[in-house]
Amino acid sequence: MTTSTMPSHPLDPLSSAEVQRACDLIRQESGLGEHLRIAQLLLHEPDKKDVLSYQPGQPFNRQAFGVILDKRSGDTYEAIADLAGGRVSLTRMNEAESEFGQACILMEEFAEAERIVKADPGWRAAMQKRGLNDAEMELVQVDPFSAGYFDLEHERGKRIVHAVCYYREELTDNGYARPIEGVVAHVDLIAGKVAHLVDERVVPIPKKKRNYHGEALGTPRSDLKELNIVQPDGPSFEVNGWEVKWQKWSFRVGFTPREGLVLHQLSYDDDGQERPIIYRASVTEMVVPYADPTANHYWKSAFDGGEYGLGKCANQLELGCDCLGLIHYFDIPAADDFGQAYDMKNAVCMHEEDYGTLWKHNEFRSGIHELRRSRRLVISFFATVGNYDYGFYWYLYQDGTIQLEAKLTGIIQTAAVTPGEPYPWGGMVDEGLAGPTHQHFFNARLHMMVDGEQNSVTETEFHPTPMGPKNPYGNVFETRSRTLKTELDTTGIAEGRVGTYWKIINPNVKNSVGNPTGYKLVVNPSPLMLAHPEATVQARGGFATRHVWVTPYTPAEKFASGDYPNQHPGGDGLPKYTASNRPIENTDLVVWHTFGHTHVCKPEDFPIMPVEYAGFLLKPNGFFRANAAMDLPKNTDQHSVQDGTGTHCCGGDKKN
Ligand code: CO
Repeated sequence: MTTSTMPSHPLDPLSSAEVQRACDLIRQESGLGEHLRIAQLLLHEPDKKDVLSYQPGQPFNRQAFGVILDKRSGDTYEAIADLAGGRVSLTRMNEAESEFGQACILMEEFAEAERIVKADPGWRAAMQKRGLNDAEMELVQVDPFSAGYFDLEHERGKRIVHAVCYYREELTDNGYARPIEGVVAHVDLIAGKVAHLVDERVVPIPKKKRNYHGEALGTPRSDLKELNIVQPDGPSFEVNGWEVKWQKWSFRVGFTPREGLVLHQLSYDDDGQERPIIYRASVTEMVVPYADPTANHYWKSAFDGGEYGLGKCANQLELGCDCLGLIHYFDIPAADDFGQAYDMKNAVCMHEEDYGTLWKHNEFRSGIHELRRSRRLVISFFATVGNYDYGFYWYLYQDGTIQLEAKLTGIIQTAAVTPGEPYPWGGMVDEGLAGPTHQHFFNARLHMMVDGEQNSVTETEFHPTPMGPKNPYGNVFETRSRTLKTELDTTGIAEGRVGTYWKIINPNVKNSVGNPTGYKLVVNPSPLMLAHPEATVQARGGFATRHVWVTPYTPAEKFASGDYPNQHPGGDGLPKYTASNRPIENTDLVVWHTFGHTHVCKPEDFPIMPVEYAGFLLKPNGFFRANAAMDLPKNTDQHSVQDGTGTHCCGGDKKN
């Protein structure tokens, strides 16, 4: 699609022209000139009531929201630019330092940190101590890692990253195979110097190259035959600007620098009635705390959403993605660090997938055999944040199910280990090379709108019924459900033993059997944060102490970890939002779901780990009057043939 076209809906992401105009207005108003840096720039989303009352063709306001940095002073501002009127309001954010973290790390600062570190005499001496000469130092890979928060004197009020280093013989080597242990440079990005150098243990640099490109991979296997997905009649979806219709689903695509892909106004056409389900859905944070207490690792806890930006780190999929078939790509207009608009080409991918059986029954008495295949719509993007790569895949199914699947791949954080010594804080992946144990926590923010704006959440558990008149044979267990009254009216923890689950219901709309209509949040087995309550990472990532949080919708409450987690001392985000225990019954509400993975590293994770999955589903539960996919046509696929015989198989209707 052409991203410079005029917006046609209030939720359309900023066009390239709007991005450029916003940057120019901000540059002018701020007076920062060459010192201006744009950490984030996005659509300032209009009020929900204005969006819901919007009629096609009506005029609407366009505003841009920016987080900007004065590169000279380190001062941070929030900017709101009115694009038609040309007015900009600027608010300085870092006046009260105790409550403010830092804007996310800029792309420019990756290169800058490397330059600063390599020019530092202390760092060069530390490298020399580890046997590196000047030429080898030039080839060292420097990763600017978000610093965490430890209230260090030299970090207070400063814009800091921690630089960790990797040995490479060539620039294309996989640095993570050869970590340089014991050296961490605390880089002051505004002063342009190393504020503090940690130089502790000397550990031999692992010897082996573990590259994953070209000849390093050896001869690829040769027994794979071609597999093609053919869609001769085109896809079954329709795209109109940022609006998508597929089967009975409709929604709008959005994208922000922090969250990446956003789904707006997801609804389902139920026999001609447009039924809203979600107003806005996105992943607002992802944090990875590491569980190794040594110099290179104890402070590592990257908040990839708030400290780097999942959207800013999105891959441009011009070089291809892992999807097959007929693909629609969305280009995302964005601002670079310096306030120049550009298009992130093919950043969002959409296609259809066959998903096996949706429903089936074989009635042996009558010989009736009915089955329908499932098809799902996939809307996805991939973000690469340093060593890790994360895919975010939203799936819509024909029976009304909604799914988010995060795909975790890329390269693990590594530690060098002296050969012969044990590594107590994780798993060995190769000779002298270990991966510290860590956790990944995502948080999805689901602004629900099941059949309207007034929703409630119920919590259900299963408990055995005591033996007695109500349970004479001992086989009975009861399903205990209650409606949550206030934000703290639940532990928010999914207990597998009692099967805790939550449902978002509309108490004002009854279904075909007289109950409120609803969607069930299917929580997969998922860890919670294991860092100690006194650890700063728990204060900063408090959202990961519960699986489910429910808040009354408040426009300013956007992110599970708060607005500025980078170098933030903690206490912001969901624990703060919910502290006053507001009512959440029969109101406009947001469900926040934490899900993740505890990762103990192993040889199979290296050099690139196969995808690990984490995610959740939202399933219609008393929303429809019956299986919503009973109206699917029989499979008419003419391409499936039986191995060896050439006859059709598996379509389900070929014998009828
Ligand atoms: Co991991």
